[in-house]
Amino acid sequence: ARRKFIVGTNFKMNGSRAFLQDLVENLNRADLDSNVGNEEVHPIFISPPSLYIEHVRQNLRKDIAVGGQNCFWKSSGAFTGEISAEMLKDVGADYVILGHTERRTLFKESDTDIGLKVVHALQTGLKVIACIGETLSERESNTTLQVLFRQLQAIIDHVQNLDLNQEEKWKDLVIAYEPVWAIGTGRVAAPEQAQEVHAAIRRRVGEICGLEVAETVRIIYGGSVNLGNALQLARERDVDGLFVGGASLRPEFVQIYMGAG
Ligand code: G3H
Repeated sequence: ARRKFIVGTNFKMNGSRAFLQDLVENLNRADLDSNVGNEEVHPIFISPPSLYIEHVRQNLRKDIAVGGQNCFWKSSGAFTGEISAEMLKDVGADYVILGHTERRTLFKESDTDIGLKVVHALQTGLKVIACIGETLSERESNTTLQVLFRQLQAIIDHVQNLDLNQEEKWKDLVIAYEPVWAIGTGRVAAPEQAQEVHAAIRRRVGEICGLEVAETVRIIYGGSVNLGNALQLARERDVDGLFVGGASLRPEFVQIYMGAG
């Protein structure tokens, strides 16, 4: 079966109440027609800074999901400055982004940290966008797949340990391939470059978790997606969605969604 295409956003540390109110009103007015509205799997989600999630959730149309950009792997406790998956759910989030390269590099999150976060968030009932990606020097030294498979393995190891059947383990997990060299640089991966990596990730998931998981897991692409390149990326066989940073803060986001979703 065709995997359901998903378009997600990451506002990163941007926005304000006023800015987000405008953005919400824009989305509420947008004619997204029948692309949006599947109750089981929201094909579109937006991820404001966590402080604003509740406000956005209360004001945004209900057929668009809302997500967090990070959360910790414990439910509560003495972890100053952190927020939990339970708290995200409590304020109405359906999703969380985990393992974004900015978390890995600026905030020193390890592969293991990310694995722990992914399983805790899944157990809490959030849908997870788990990010992996190689740097430019890793790509240039031909270690792209080695790096991606290492990051993927840490996530899979934790997920496979969950006491659930294979389908339950994977149904809420989306893998985001985000080449670090493409993020915020305007240097998007060529569609065939993205396809090659997505297919390799899918093969790897198949080797470890079986063909059924590989066929159903969604692998989305992020890194300088904009109106000019979205459609071509979306046409690739193994690209099951787009993950939009910078352009998600601009009105063109609605058109990206309409064109590719
Ligand atoms: O999470 C989203 C990515 O970091 C993409 O960001 O679209 O600004 O390159 P970008």
